[in-house]
Amino acid sequence: MLHPILALFLLCGLSTVSSLDNGLALTPPMGWMHWERFRCIIDCDNYPDDCISEQLFRAMADRLAEDGYLEAGYEYLIIDDCWLATERDSEGRLQPDPDRFPNGIKALADYVHDKGLKFGIYEDYGTNTCGGYPGILGHLETDANTFAEWGVDYLKLDGCYAATEGMEEGYAEMGMYLNQTGRPIVYSCSFPAYKGLDANYTAAVEICNLWRNYGDIQDSWGSVKSIVNWFVDNQGYLSQFAGPGHWNDPDMLIIGDYGLSYDESISQMTMWTMMASPLIMSVDLRTIEPEFRDILLNKDAIRINQDPLGIPGLLAKKINNVYVWTKPILPQVGDKYSYAIGFVSFREDNPIQIEVTLDSFGLDNADGYTLNNVFDPTDPVTVSVTDPITFFIDPSGGVLLEVNPVGSKKFQ
Ligand code: GLA
Repeated sequence: MLHPILALFLLCGLSTVSSLDNGLALTPPMGWMHWERFRCIIDCDNYPDDCISEQLFRAMADRLAEDGYLEAGYEYLIIDDCWLATERDSEGRLQPDPDRFPNGIKALADYVHDKGLKFGIYEDYGTNTCGGYPGILGHLETDANTFAEWGVDYLKLDGCYAATEGMEEGYAEMGMYLNQTGRPIVYSCSFPAYKGLDANYTAAVEICNLWRNYGDIQDSWGSVKSIVNWFVDNQGYLSQFAGPGHWNDPDMLIIGDYGLSYDESISQMTMWTMMASPLIMSVDLRTIEPEFRDILLNKDAIRINQDPLGIPGLLAKKINNVYVWTKPILPQVGDKYSYAIGFVSFREDNPIQIEVTLDSFGLDNADGYTLNNVFDPTDPVTVSVTDPITFFIDPSGGVLLEVNPVGSKKFQ
């Protein structure tokens, strides 16, 4: 059985719907964003190291550049909500909080760019951001120009305090002004998260590089599972909209924070890799423990997530509440693709043994496949499509396998 998305891909070429043509986000965007970890801490007197301020972003830019994240592909440093002053300036332009960003946003963007990183910022399509700061409604063109002048490379445009009716048109208008600036700006939309499955997803593909589909991630395994269950329930519909230049976004990686165990962190990385989701970390990079950093920096997982085909994986089966996704990736030999196969246990009781054969996923290369166990690498093993592959999986644990048709060279 051919993977359904692969079949669609082969039939229709790169994409089924014409997409935003800014040439950006050809693979899922990777970076760091402050929201899940640092929220709206604005009290710099009591929390000088954690408050939303230029020091925080400079410190994170340093860590991204110096600790291997940028090299691994995490290139966007994105400011989320709570950076703004409560009022626009006398000429009606957006301005940052003067105490927390005394040098202004342009100087911060310059600092970030000097590190070789790209710079992202948050705003909201409505009258106010979700945190209550000025939104862009009524100022779209001015704000697009301000962002371009500041050197913004990525805009997350939220949807609080806005009528859901007509949102697609409003986001399209802002996208037009962004394009008119001539500066390449990745455009992250939120109207699908506010409109649910009633959102015009075809418009999202045309307007946006990525879009939040669902509620906010919180710092717990339960939150990760509820988001993933929603994506799984709707995968048949949602997956058709994802591809190079336009991605579904299940929200940030919370690996290294308080809520996920080591096993659960491998599981989140496995699922975000399999779903071709943006890899946007939200963790204190100054204090992250090395074993969590290693998960975020796992080269094979990142390569699978960033596979140029850009085909989102689909849940192929559940085995005793262990979810199993498959995702076609490069390299291919003749018409045989490589695959990533991700297993994540949603069980809460005991580990169980998994036994699968590759032919049960429709893989049929006569010479077999070499196996790479991404988070627990061993010497390469070659299997035929009927050989049983067995392993134990812990409750809430994950196993990510890469299977390459024999004769292929690993795609770099
Ligand atoms: C919404 C978004 C979050 C974050 C906050 C900021 O809830 O979904 O990702 O940006 O607003 O207030």
